[in-house]
Amino acid sequence: MPAIVRASSRPAAAVSLLLLIGAVSLWVLRPLTGRADDTVTDPYLGQPAAIDAGEQIYREHCIICHGRAGGRGPDLFAVTLTDEEFLDTVLHGRPGTVMPAFSTTLSRDDIWKVRAFVKATPKGL
Ligand code: HEC
Repeated sequence: MPAIVRASSRPAAAVSLLLLIGAVSLWVLRPLTGRADDTVTDPYLGQPAAIDAGEQIYREHCIICHGRAGGRGPDLFAVTLTDEEFLDTVLHGRPGTVMPAFSTTLSRDDIWKVRAFVKATPKGL
């Protein structure tokens, strides 16, 4: 009798263990796999006041290189970067190119406003 009980409970125990290992690995790997779920997105997209503010910031800090539709730097009205990549590029610049880091000049909110502006202006200025 005890032998039967043991034999029948083993698979259940094995399944629970596998589920537990699965859950723990998912939890551990979350920072690596979470990108698609909790991607950083621009909180100002589609907000008219923020878009206007973003235009001012663009004219003050970016237009000199990025122009009305590209110039010395690429056309930001047509970039295909994700919001997160855009933020990172502007905060840290592009080492080895003239694209400066703005982390000490602009706040993250300012950069998000520029992003909201360029996204709302697909044909350029
Ligand atoms: C001094 C010139 C200069 C200024 C000022 C400047 N940029 Fe740039 N930027 C560049 C250049 C040049 C590149 C291309 C770098 C490369 O070759 O990867 C670039 C690249 C970028 C990219 C990456 C585009 C892509 O498709 O990979 C973003 C985003 C960007 N700039 C945003 C900004 C924003 C926003 C501002 C204003 C806050 C700004 N830049 C100001 C010169 C400039």
